[in-house]
Amino acid sequence: MERQPEPEYMDLADEADAYAQADFADVNAAFAERLAELTENRPAWALDLGCGPVDIPIRVAALRPAWHIAAVDASWAMLALAPNPPVLVHRIQADAKRLPVPDRVFDVVFSNSILHHLPNPEPFWQEVRRISRPGTLILVRDLFRPESRAAARALVDHHAGTESPLLQEEFYRSLLAAFTPEEAREQLAMANLKGLEVTTITDRHIDIWGRLG
Ligand SMILES: C[S@@+](CC[C@H](N)C(=O)[O-])C[C@H]1O[C@@H](n2cnc3c(N)ncnc32)[C@H](O)[C@@H]1O
Repeated sequence: MERQPEPEYMDLADEADAYAQADFADVNAAFAERLAELTENRPAWALDLGCGPVDIPIRVAALRPAWHIAAVDASWAMLALAPNPPVLVHRIQADAKRLPVPDRVFDVVFSNSILHHLPNPEPFWQEVRRISRPGTLILVRDLFRPESRAAARALVDHHAGTESPLLQEEFYRSLLAAFTPEEAREQLAMANLKGLEVTTITDRHIDIWGRLG
């Protein structure tokens, strides 16, 4: 099935509200725990790309209190939904493809569900490489594109059958906009991101992860 790109930023207030109200507690906790498994709690500069309502970086901060964490999203509608966190997370409104930070500053770069929003992922990966240094831990999780629309619809029914119609439609469009594991591997090769690998972790998710060589 061919990729059907979807709008890049989630900057409509209704869309951001619907997203923030959905129950992503389990998947977000699983992401934070996976990141914690791959890292240690010692001082580090960490960055979340496409942080949405900031739930994941807040969870990460609770598991990794020694880190300085910045959270970037292009959508202020999303960033504005962040609760007052019990931990410090710096929110930054910026495009993940053109970050207002110098080269080679981050020890950890993570991201959940931004990749399928990007019309062309190449500038995103180049920016990830620019802001990272040798040894930086990268964890980018996203959906992967099923083989057919029917398979995408079945995933929506199975995993989001009780969510709002708006969120179900978002999920369906996101599956159609996602990349296949093979396409993700090609993106890493094109951006010369050595040391990263692509692992299928569920019936709908891949992890692109590793330490930069
Ligand atoms: C599906 S949401 C995921 C939010 C969050 N990571 C989570 O897992 O809850 C994708 C987010 O990426 C943001 N986004 C998309 N393209 C972006 C870009 N180029 N730069 C920054 N943020 C972007 C959208 O505005 C949206 O908030």
